[in-house]
Amino acid sequence: MGIYFEVIHKDIAGRLGKLKVGGKIIKTPALLPVVNPHLQIIHPAEMKKLGIEGIITNAYIISKSDEFRHQALERGLHDLLDFDGLIMTDSGSFQMSVYGSVDITNEQTLSFQRDIGSDIWVPLDIPTHPDAPRGEVATQMDITMDRMREARTIFGPDAPISGPVQGAIFEDLRESAGRRVSGMGFAYCPIGAVVPLMEAYRYRELVNVILAAKKGLNSGSCVHLFGAGHPSMFALAVALGCDVFDSAAYALYAKEGRYITPSGTLKLDEMSELPCACQICRSHTADELRKSPDRQKLLACHNLAITMAEISRVRAAVQEGTLWELVDERCRAHPRLLDGYHRLLERVLELKHLDRATKRRFFYRGAESCDRTEVTRYHEMIPRVKLAGTALIDAGGPIPSHFPEIIEFKPPFGPVPYELSETFPVGPCEIPSWDETMVACGIKGLAALLAANTSTKVTISTTSRWEQMFQSAFPDCEVIT
Ligand code: GUN
Ligand code: ZN
Repeated sequence: MGIYFEVIHKDIAGRLGKLKVGGKIIKTPALLPVVNPHLQIIHPAEMKKLGIEGIITNAYIISKSDEFRHQALERGLHDLLDFDGLIMTDSGSFQMSVYGSVDITNEQTLSFQRDIGSDIWVPLDIPTHPDAPRGEVATQMDITMDRMREARTIFGPDAPISGPVQGAIFEDLRESAGRRVSGMGFAYCPIGAVVPLMEAYRYRELVNVILAAKKGLNSGSCVHLFGAGHPSMFALAVALGCDVFDSAAYALYAKEGRYITPSGTLKLDEMSELPCACQICRSHTADELRKSPDRQKLLACHNLAITMAEISRVRAAVQEGTLWELVDERCRAHPRLLDGYHRLLERVLELKHLDRATKRRFFYRGAESCDRTEVTRYHEMIPRVKLAGTALIDAGGPIPSHFPEIIEFKPPFGPVPYELSETFPVGPCEIPSWDETMVACGIKGLAALLAANTSTKVTISTTSRWEQMFQSAFPDCEVIT
């Protein structure tokens, strides 16, 4: 028993890992589709065939259903849903946040989740609304903590219970919730009550909330972002260190005739083409899909396929170290998502120690790339390089013959000593024609190198386009063109 999480690759604060629980192993980042036993638009057995390794369902709904309660208890949840992969159950907390209260106790829901054979159980946490006043948030968080403590006392240290992290938008409360949850030994930690933030596109605050929770949690915990299911935000959330998502979006959107793409959602009624490689989109025209009697099911299947494909893409990006490029691409899909991305870049100093040392490549994608972890780390490392008595910085100008040490200037990093020229990030870095932001950033790196080598006589060779920038940044250096 127990829940185990193993990290295999890292990129930014993102991880590729394995979650082991109940004799099952699933790859992370993972998406657990929400299965409502009353309306199974896509049967869980069909999901298994689509490569889905885990699902989430609602224990409260099952326990309140005359149809399902006894079957779940007698046959077990996996048999009832006909799914032999990982099944996580939610407790009814979400119903509580919508309807105000539920007629079930923490111990009752956890016992029920145990008795039906759920692989990951959720206690009766209180999903406090992000805009609740601080006093209320703190009080409800204490109740959530008491329930987790109770869960451990009753069910023991090895029960596969998750430890939800609440705290609304108060970063100190989220951090302390994370610390308390980890302190109680929970290894699987959902970040809760973020659905209202995502629904209102409050991605800036979402980034703050995730980073705060992560700061408090043990770095080895598996982090689930409750209710996050739109593929446009997976890359960002994984970059922040989230490992598992769950979503009913594929089904809810299908019901409303909405077609999910990795960059946003379209109305099927307004579409002239189906821009997707899935089997449904390739075998129907937009018009055929609209008129199909199975429209809702087909749309749900497409929505789920596109969602799972994005999870695969994110996993591949973490494995090869190209997550920054994917985050950059996805976050341009909506201005408020771009806000979230910018917030991540502003807080990159907190993440750079988590990022890995070498990656496949560094593609410059505009000014945002100057704030990436690799650039910040390079600028921190570069003062360790010792220069000789004289040095020429080759920033695109003429190269006189008498310089023993020539150092290439490669923005946004700056100086590239010969020994580093084949190493990450400067070696596999692809940049377009220089722009001012990139050069200004490279100048920061050069300034850091020169500040550590004050006795070196430095000449900078550049073109007339950049002469002024170098001259004003380094008034004591000779700048030739
Ligand atoms: N589903 C979406 N958000 C939450 C949450 O905060 N807690 C629980 N238990 N389920 C959720
Ligand atoms: Zn499709």
